[in-house]
Amino acid sequence: MCGIVGYIGQKDAKEILLKGLEKLEYRGYDSAGIALQNGNMVHVFKEKGRIADLRAIVSEEVQAPKGIGHTRWATHGVPSKGNAHPHQSASGRFTLVHNGVIENYSHLQQEYLKDVELRSETDTEIIVQLVEKFAGEGLSTKEAFRKTLTLLIGSYALALLDTEDNSTIYVAKNKSPLLVGVGEGFNVVASDAMAMIQVTNQYIELMDKEMVIVTNNAIVIEDLQGNQVKRDPYTASIDASDIEKGTYPHYMLKEIDEQPLVMRKIIQAYQDINGELAIDSDITAALKEADRVYIVACGTSYHAGLVGKQLIEKLAKIPVEVHVASEFSYNMPLLSEKPLFIFISQSGETADSRSVLVNVKNLGYKALTITNVAGSTLSREADYTLLLHAGPEIAVASTKAYTAQIAVLSILASVTAKVKGIAEEFDLIHELGIVANAMEVLCDSKEEIEKIAYEYLTVTRNCFFIGRSLDNYVGLEGALKLKEISYIQAEGFAGGELKHGTIALIEEGTPVIALATQKNVNLSIRGNVKEVTARGANPCIISMKGLETDEDRFIIPEVHELLTPLISVVPLQLIAYYAALHRDCDVDKPRNLAKSVTVE
Ligand code: F6R
Repeated sequence: MCGIVGYIGQKDAKEILLKGLEKLEYRGYDSAGIALQNGNMVHVFKEKGRIADLRAIVSEEVQAPKGIGHTRWATHGVPSKGNAHPHQSASGRFTLVHNGVIENYSHLQQEYLKDVELRSETDTEIIVQLVEKFAGEGLSTKEAFRKTLTLLIGSYALALLDTEDNSTIYVAKNKSPLLVGVGEGFNVVASDAMAMIQVTNQYIELMDKEMVIVTNNAIVIEDLQGNQVKRDPYTASIDASDIEKGTYPHYMLKEIDEQPLVMRKIIQAYQDINGELAIDSDITAALKEADRVYIVACGTSYHAGLVGKQLIEKLAKIPVEVHVASEFSYNMPLLSEKPLFIFISQSGETADSRSVLVNVKNLGYKALTITNVAGSTLSREADYTLLLHAGPEIAVASTKAYTAQIAVLSILASVTAKVKGIAEEFDLIHELGIVANAMEVLCDSKEEIEKIAYEYLTVTRNCFFIGRSLDNYVGLEGALKLKEISYIQAEGFAGGELKHGTIALIEEGTPVIALATQKNVNLSIRGNVKEVTARGANPCIISMKGLETDEDRFIIPEVHELLTPLISVVPLQLIAYYAALHRDCDVDKPRNLAKSVTVE
């Protein structure tokens, strides 16, 4: 959460920083700020709200070849102008932006800063005040910064300005993502390469507990002991057009529409020269050796993991457990003898998942990360990575990453089955091709789906999703999509479970969206629909061609039974989208959320 940027060069930093922050707004959007340094003058602009609100108050007159910026998702201290970054030291000499959480900030305040009057409720202010304190005791800025870093417990990506040094941005990282971008005659700092891809595609990754001295023509990386570290830049392969909305009103709609293309890209990316599906043999060997797979993820990625369990168990015949990352570390299950961990994470930066990864790596276990972001923390720290090839996902509500995760898991399961000598159940390339076509049909059915959203969800307070087997998992995802962007209280349940308590909530007109795409449970789920209808519910059955009846409201095209989640989720994504739209919600940036959850 939170995004930071920095620029040092010859051009005016203001527009570069604001544009960068706009690209990082998915990381948090409750307040924002920039600091522009000209000689020994630093001008700070900050505002509660979005980058657009910040842009409105930044003075056109201030021009500076150096600056830092921040977009915030509040952790310590309410969203307000006072708590917005950048934060300044008491004398105004040092100015800092921070992404992360400093766990020992109150201890540090008691120990070192008792006499300093703090001006915000943030943990961040402690850092900048500490730098000032140590500089005041005679240390150079670099050494004062280093000494401060050695005291911090927690996560941070930091960029620091010093009014007494116009030629440097001081940067550091621990656990929060941070890159330094390399230009000609300028350098930049960003939480994500996407923010600065307009100015450079050359980036240097930073490792935890490294600090960097960035000038306009040099980047010097040091560890906290002062040893220099050499690291070459890599080329970030982000297409600038991938991160634009184009003619779409929202990123979410664009990303829903991109799903057929993503399916085709995945099929291509995981084919060998003979046109067969292929996965790195080290990965399939690790799966073959494992006596149990532990999938660990959060939110939508967790829901993809639930589907992944069925795919791996049914195709590759390996037992799988699926765990929510934030619970795993404290409730570690009794592990099997030869476990393999699979982390599923769109961003590859989710702190809850990362914390489990660090724990299981310390225990000596192997881990595979399935992620959309090459070079992300979870990718770097796992033994193996499989990429989603979904292109940047910018809307906070995940859509194309979910279907990409399931598609990649299906390929992993199928290729592992082959390596294990298990007879192929179906031609997955062919079936995924059918899925891509079916997704196209669904994306062309927006008008009909919009009507459903309008009819069922415009005035309701709540909504239930029911399904059995794979449909149950898709219902969980449908409910999450709906609640996070439309703020309608929505819950997903196994069809048979509602009557064990929750059915008490059904009232006259309560919408119940029922998925009926699984042949073996088709009759039972329809029985559950009858139960809720008898109690006044307003049912909306979404079934699959071949299983449909007259009572169904929407019918999705037929695909292989194991792959139905890839397409049954599409109408649910669109229902959530249109429900949010009709309720005047901010579809791409729902309240209280951020795209990349980098705090535990
Ligand atoms: C919901 C959503 C979140 C994420 C979750 C994990 O639409 O996007 O639930 O799925 O925060 O994020 P990643 O996949 O980046 O680890």
